[in-house]
Amino acid sequence: MLLEKIKNRTAVIGVVGLGYVGLPLAVLQAKTGYKVVGVDEMAEKIERVNRGENYISDVDNAELSQAVGAGRLTATTDFAALRGCDVVLICVPTPLTKNKEPDISAVVSVTKQLAKYVHPEMLVVLESTTYPGTTEEVILPTLTEGGLKVGQEIFVAFSPERVDPGNHSFKTHNTFKLVGGVTPACLTAARTFYEQSIVKIFPLSSPRVAEMTKVFENVFRSVNIALVNELAQLCDRMGLNVYEVIDAAATKNFGFMPFYPGPGVGGHCIPLDPYYLAWKSKEYDMHTRFIELAGEINEGMPYYVLAKLQRLLNRHGRCLNGADILVLGVTYKADVADWRETPAIKVMELLQRESVKLTYADPFTPSVEIEGRSYAAVEATDERLERCACALVLTAHSAFDFERIVRHAPLVFDTRNGTKTVTGKKDNVVLL
Ligand SMILES: NC(=O)c1ccc[n+]([C@@H]2O[C@H](COP(=O)([O-])OP(=O)(O)OC[C@H]3O[C@@H](n4cnc5c(N)ncnc54)[C@H](O)[C@@H]3O)[C@@H](O)[C@H]2O)c1
Repeated sequence: MLLEKIKNRTAVIGVVGLGYVGLPLAVLQAKTGYKVVGVDEMAEKIERVNRGENYISDVDNAELSQAVGAGRLTATTDFAALRGCDVVLICVPTPLTKNKEPDISAVVSVTKQLAKYVHPEMLVVLESTTYPGTTEEVILPTLTEGGLKVGQEIFVAFSPERVDPGNHSFKTHNTFKLVGGVTPACLTAARTFYEQSIVKIFPLSSPRVAEMTKVFENVFRSVNIALVNELAQLCDRMGLNVYEVIDAAATKNFGFMPFYPGPGVGGHCIPLDPYYLAWKSKEYDMHTRFIELAGEINEGMPYYVLAKLQRLLNRHGRCLNGADILVLGVTYKADVADWRETPAIKVMELLQRESVKLTYADPFTPSVEIEGRSYAAVEATDERLERCACALVLTAHSAFDFERIVRHAPLVFDTRNGTKTVTGKKDNVVLL
């Protein structure tokens, strides 16, 4: 019955958590032809969705308003709406505690709510990134408390979200999807569901394999970024241009994949997810040294940026204290409006502690708060660039006119190689 409903599009889809992952997924399901109910604890988001108003840059405004206008997408804060759903996708945050331990409280709370409304012929899929074991150790026992049999009456699976915000080539519908079901019937249900809207599905033997794969993908990125961040520091000491080295290595026809250095790692995934695995591994008497080492190097990058900036100013006979520093870009990566975990805030925090005269420009971030002090974004005008002691590039948004920045700022410390396309004279530019 569930498979029939999925195939003939009469299934009702519940998406819990309407953020960077959940909203694009909800819109995709509505576009596929399903009736979709979004559930989120933030009343403001619910009101915006119900007005057809978009707040996630990866979501197409027209697709969202069409889905809402056609009555295919509604949103609510009331979990009871899940009673009428055939498929429920959980996309809530999985942050870390202050001590860098997994905080799965949102997943636990949503599962408890859902357990009140779970019914036979319902498919529940966790999409949030988490440590291997969460689906079977946390979700499954709660959903089956009332006696429903998994694989016969209800179907439970893990399918990690791999979406890359701001990526114009790969969106939710064409990013290949992994699926691991608690039983073969759970896998069939989840696979059949995703096949309706996503171009390629890879079935796996269990939720644990899917959970581990997702975290491994992000550990892979974290470790490789750390490797190149360390290389950048060595190249700095040896007087070599790290970007020339990376580009040269990338000429190899096989066996090399370029990663680029930066002022640290940000976003909701790379700085957090590896610690989920590091935490779980201790249960198996393992210490995941690569994860810890990568974290140490990547988290050290803002301090390296500070130290190098201090050196650069010193060479110009200036000190950091009181220096007019114009930060360019604060979001965690170029051309996205997301500044969660962005290393730029850490760099600004360190600069503020050194009493620099701090300003920043970022078309995506009207204001930021650094340790209780608010800053409003400024325009990087010619005059402001000329006035600063250093323009510090922390995120290379494509809206920045680097030709002009290099022409007017006395010194440009570019931690992202945003100035690589500048054709004119650039002896005032220093790379990471
Ligand atoms: N953002 C990404 O690039 C990305 C990519 C892949 C995977 N993920 C993973 O997807 C998950 C969601 O990430 P996101 O970036 O969409 O987060 P987000 O913060 O943008 O969205 C999560 C939403 O869940 C809501 N929420 C939180 N607790 C809730 C609760 N108890 N009940 C109902 N709603 C609740 C929040 O209000 C928010 O709207 C995380 O596990 C993340 O690691 C994120």
